[in-house]
Amino acid sequence: MYFSGMNFNTAALYLAPLAGISETLFRNLARKCGADAVISEMVSAEGLLRAGKQTVRLCAFDEQERPIGIQLFGSDPDRLAAAASMVESQFRPDFINLNAGCPVPKVVSRNGGAALLKDPVLFEAIVIAMARATTIPLTVKIRSGWNTGDWVDEEFARIAEGSGAKAVMLHARSKSMRYTGEAILERILLAKKAISIPLIGNGDIRTADDALRMIRETGCDGIMIGRGAVGNPWLFGQIKAAMNGDPVLPPSPAERGRELLAHIARFREMYGEFYATREMRKHTAWYLKGSPHAAIFRDRIFRAKGTTELEKIAGEAFGIS
Ligand SMILES: Cc1cc2nc3c(=O)[nH]c(=O)nc-3n(C[C@H](O)[C@H](O)[C@H](O)COP(=O)(O)O)c2cc1C
Repeated sequence: MYFSGMNFNTAALYLAPLAGISETLFRNLARKCGADAVISEMVSAEGLLRAGKQTVRLCAFDEQERPIGIQLFGSDPDRLAAAASMVESQFRPDFINLNAGCPVPKVVSRNGGAALLKDPVLFEAIVIAMARATTIPLTVKIRSGWNTGDWVDEEFARIAEGSGAKAVMLHARSKSMRYTGEAILERILLAKKAISIPLIGNGDIRTADDALRMIRETGCDGIMIGRGAVGNPWLFGQIKAAMNGDPVLPPSPAERGRELLAHIARFREMYGEFYATREMRKHTAWYLKGSPHAAIFRDRIFRAKGTTELEKIAGEAFGIS
């Protein structure tokens, strides 16, 4: 039995889809630290329909991660609808998310991701086809436009609502901005006003204050957090505390260190030593972000030959053993 009562009106904090980062362990961590819902890394509809092993693996999740959405990218309405139906029957997530915001050349060159923002007719056909193909809610993640100034977020949010989507996630940047500049809160405000389904705001939330400001200035129904949670999953709990008017307490160095050690151990157990060394080098550096010793340890982290060495560095860096 899967959770079918996903309520986009009450889920306040979402972990953003982050290719290469938001795999099952990271999503579990985000949920443990206060995220209300998580989304998978983007999954190719074509890859899934061809049942590529790697693609299928991207869709697997634990029950504790619920509510979870699986994100699909592609450009063909029928193929995306078939993939959505397959995701529902094989993996039973709580919702499906369409990627209409990814700026990566590999995706947009095949008319997927942010390229959909150039074609409202195709976008509408895709949302209609995917919504019809599944019984679980379909949500869409868009950017504010392809080119800065040529904003299409209000139009695409309306199309999504009119075509059967149950919520819209908006990364308030243009595709051409990629990740530069700042997310534009006014775009979230305008998109929120344009629709009556929930609008989830996204972009540049690094602190609890950033989150409160986004809610205050846009009236958005929820917040999606990506990079700010990387190395700092506690951000979710801090935002919750701030929303309740409670003090925002950062984790102690020992707490950060213990979570990192547990993360390394779980990663090794799940993916094996080789992959864990490669991926946990990045995570270790992220956990150390902002700490006074980050620069000193950085070199050692990226030269570490195995996870045992990473654990030693983590212990030293956070003063635990
Ligand atoms: C490394 C990385 C991977 C990403 N992967 C995806 C993805 O798979 N699907 C997607 O819709 N967005 C993806 N994004 C965009 C994020 O979901 C999010 O919209 C963006 O980073 C802005 O939010 P933030 O400022 O909280 O990070 C990715 C971003 C980064 C930095």
